[in-house]
Amino acid sequence: MLFPFFLLSSSTFVSGIAIPSHSSKNARVFEVPIGRSRGLARQRLARSTAQVGLGDSGDERYSISVNFGGSETQLLLDTGSSDLWATTDKCTASHCSGGLPLISQPSNLSAISGLVRYGDGTSAEGLFATTPTFSFAGSQLPLTDQVFIAVNNTNATSILNSKSVGILPLGFPLFGITWRDILSATNGNTEPTTEQAFASWKTTANPVNRMVLDGSLDSPMFSVALQRDTVDIGGNQGILTIGGLPSGVDNSTLAWGPVRLYNVSLTPSPGEVAEQYPVPWELFIDDVYLDGVVLPKSNLTASSIRLSAIVDTGDAVVRGPADVVNEIYSRVSSSYQSSSSPNINKATFSCLTPHTLAFSIAGKMFPIDPRDFILPSNDNEVKNCVPAVVGYSASDLPQPGKGTQFSWSLGDPFLKSVLTAFYYGNITHPSVDLPRMGLLSTVPANASALLTEVISEAQKKNGGNEYQTIELAPTTLAKAAATFSGVAQAPERDANGAIATSTTRWSWAVVVAFAAGWFL
Ligand SMILES: *[C@@H]1O[C@H](CO)[C@@H](O)[C@H](O)[C@H]1NC(C)=O
Ligand SMILES: *[C@@H]1O[C@H](CO)[C@@H](O)[C@H](O)[C@H]1NC(C)=O
Ligand SMILES: *[C@@H]1O[C@H](CO)[C@@H](O)[C@H](O)[C@H]1NC(C)=O
Ligand SMILES: *[C@@H]1O[C@H](CO)[C@@H](O)[C@H](O)[C@H]1NC(C)=O
Ligand SMILES: *[C@@H]1O[C@H](CO)[C@@H](O)[C@H](O)[C@H]1NC(C)=O
Ligand SMILES: *[C@@H]1O[C@H](CO)[C@@H](O)[C@H](O)[C@H]1NC(C)=O
Ligand SMILES: *[C@@H]1O[C@H](CO)[C@@H](O)[C@H](O)[C@H]1NC(C)=O
Ligand SMILES: *[C@@H]1O[C@H](CO)[C@@H](O)[C@H](O)[C@H]1NC(C)=O
Repeated sequence: MLFPFFLLSSSTFVSGIAIPSHSSKNARVFEVPIGRSRGLARQRLARSTAQVGLGDSGDERYSISVNFGGSETQLLLDTGSSDLWATTDKCTASHCSGGLPLISQPSNLSAISGLVRYGDGTSAEGLFATTPTFSFAGSQLPLTDQVFIAVNNTNATSILNSKSVGILPLGFPLFGITWRDILSATNGNTEPTTEQAFASWKTTANPVNRMVLDGSLDSPMFSVALQRDTVDIGGNQGILTIGGLPSGVDNSTLAWGPVRLYNVSLTPSPGEVAEQYPVPWELFIDDVYLDGVVLPKSNLTASSIRLSAIVDTGDAVVRGPADVVNEIYSRVSSSYQSSSSPNINKATFSCLTPHTLAFSIAGKMFPIDPRDFILPSNDNEVKNCVPAVVGYSASDLPQPGKGTQFSWSLGDPFLKSVLTAFYYGNITHPSVDLPRMGLLSTVPANASALLTEVISEAQKKNGGNEYQTIELAPTTLAKAAATFSGVAQAPERDANGAIATSTTRWSWAVVVAFAAGWFL
């Protein structure tokens, strides 16, 4: 995720649980009718919902297949940022030589350079450019003249290692730099008016933002279910649905909560009323529990800041305040000794022991499946695990009225356990249709038994098999085995990742522990 720099102050004026009022057809991929005009010319009508499968790199990185100006490639799915970029074949960084299908250098680069910095200290830079065409897997939701950063230098190795050439951002415009950099290149650094900002978003915002802005989706939203393919006995099928909920999921089964709004540096144009805007996908949380016991509140943040979390597909772990994370480490690991910066390497516990970290949101509990809570403490390790939770130091935590206000980040462990709907509402006039998020837990009742089963199986196999997976993003959806409250479940797989024909199931596919990929 990326940290923005232009927040004035925050406000928490929205509260309570809201149910989206914007109606959506129960989202399905529908084949586009072929319109016939006089003569035999065929015309394609715009499609307003798309449902695509996700690639999976070691359950730490999730990707999507896209078409960039005619070439198929894959991008990392990131709800924690807002700038679209792709590495071009003119990239000089050593990371770019890994044989990826880099996109061709666009012929009409602008003279404006863009630099995005991520929470892990990595960055990507290049010149802004426009691709004449952009679409999602299988030519879905085509766009023309999509602005992106043609990256020629990056050290975001974790992205390239997962065989993605860049990032597909799903954040709000105000969390990005693209529109602001392009606007200030022509307007200077004066604070933009809302009119200027909205005009700029129409042409330079990221793909899904543009679709929401022009009202071309069934519903101004997308939803994400992440698969669990390393420690796997079934589980969600990885699906991104743009424009609605996945087919089969009933919206009344989700718990909806408002997205935090901020005062930002946009000058209302004459006739516009000052509004507050969503910046990251940030949800209020009531409390955090470990194994059914509430965790103490952090003493590193002011009690006046309402507790909240961002929901970030681009983060391989869950993050929280250092003191609370120390508490989690101490509770799961008998030998752990607290320190001011929590040391994950020392927070070891038996992989066989199920632990449930749960978040109370919008009045409901959302547990992380015990299988998603563990990480191997070393390569090929199935005895000792560490929690998939990392601490935010005091300097990363919010201060009242300054910058973003979240103190937790719900990364992939959360999104493997919870189907999440991201409802943008009206991006330019949030008060007309408020942004919100909907959650549906897909953790089975016997998740703890499933953890114990899979780990003991792996231990019997002498340290587990060493199957490590990078599954490329599919261009279609695989057939689901069944559904869980309407959420498509992945078919069971054997130890080699093939779809199981018998009762053989995946055991522990050892991920390379502490893969560079955790920190985005
Ligand atoms: C946000 O701006 C509104 C006026 O538009 C103001 O009333 C409110 O106090 C501001 N909130 C914060 C946290 O500064
Ligand atoms: C949810 O379903 C209800 C009725 O089934 C409908 O009125 C409402 O618009 C739906 N909301 C969304 C976001 O799909
Ligand atoms: C590049 O070409 C597209 C049309 O293909 C055009 O819309 C865009 O403005 C051009 N970009 C630049 C930077 O000249
Ligand atoms: C990545 O590159 C940026 C810019 O050159 C540099 O500031 C940063 O320290 C680098 N990060 C890492 C993790 O190498
Ligand atoms: C690479 O990107 C930088 C901006 O980050 C730009 O100044 C430079 O001209 C670019 N080089 C090429 C070959 O595109
Ligand atoms: C958002 O609300 C404004 C003000 O009511 C309206 O003009 C605009 O069309 C809305 N945007 C969309 C995409 O519906
Ligand atoms: C914060 O301080 C209180 C009072 O000393 C303490 O009970 C609590 O455990 C502390 N919170 C954390 C997360 O350590
Ligand atoms: C978990 O529950 C499922 C569905 O009820 C069942 O098929 C499976 O055998 C159970 N597994 C364990 C290890 O309890």
